[in-house]
Amino acid sequence: MKIMIAADYRKLSQMAADIVAKQVQTKNNSVLGLATGSTPEGMYSILSHMHRQDNLDFSEVITFNLDEYVGLAPDHPQSYHYYMKHHFFKQVNVKSCNINIPCTEKNNPEKVCREYDQEINNSGGIDLQVLGIGTNGHIGFNEPGRLLSVDTHIVDLTEETIEANSRFFKSKNEVPRRAVTMGVGSIMKAKKIMLLASGLNKAKAVKEMLSGKVTTDLPASLLQLHHDPLFILDHEAASLFQAKE
Ligand code: GLP
Repeated sequence: MKIMIAADYRKLSQMAADIVAKQVQTKNNSVLGLATGSTPEGMYSILSHMHRQDNLDFSEVITFNLDEYVGLAPDHPQSYHYYMKHHFFKQVNVKSCNINIPCTEKNNPEKVCREYDQEINNSGGIDLQVLGIGTNGHIGFNEPGRLLSVDTHIVDLTEETIEANSRFFKSKNEVPRRAVTMGVGSIMKAKKIMLLASGLNKAKAVKEMLSGKVTTDLPASLLQLHHDPLFILDHEAASLFQAKE
């Protein structure tokens, strides 16, 4: 388990982008697991710059996104399809046929979930999975609870997540109540995992995630069992974890 502490959000984004760039340079047909949310925005922006400036080549890269809301069309500005296109895909040269984001619109959700895991397996598995963390310790949209699902599945979002994500919508009522997400098993199968956490509002979840104890009440704590996880934290997100040490 490796933990890197960045002085600020900009440095965190640079560290994360450097790791993705190295992955892609080492293996040009890398399979990347990608995350949304405000935390990886800086990383995507730096990677886009590296593509323009240094010809960082994504032409053979395959991507799988972690999750998507149920009930938002791909062109809805708050959908993760839209986010990915805006922040990353239209800035770089990933081929559209190599982009995978679960989409339940017009499709049977159970079938979408089954086929998503099959597609990941068919691609050879995820080489590097990028993750953020929810204030309640969720990864993807795997919410705290007594049971966690192994495979890609449909999930009811918790009030805390709906509240946290309402900042992206006009009102809380507009936040979808359900989502499709890769399961914890699908995430844990990734060869490498890189979790990014920034800001004081993540400090409590980060402390519990790295506590040495594993609980389904804090899904990110499972990552401690992964064989090659990297946690990149800024000082604020690391503040309670460091205070404990
Ligand atoms: C959402 C996403 C997660 C993300 C989390 C944190 O709920 N489903 O994948 O990690 O938000 O987002 P942010 O980085 O905006 O705090």
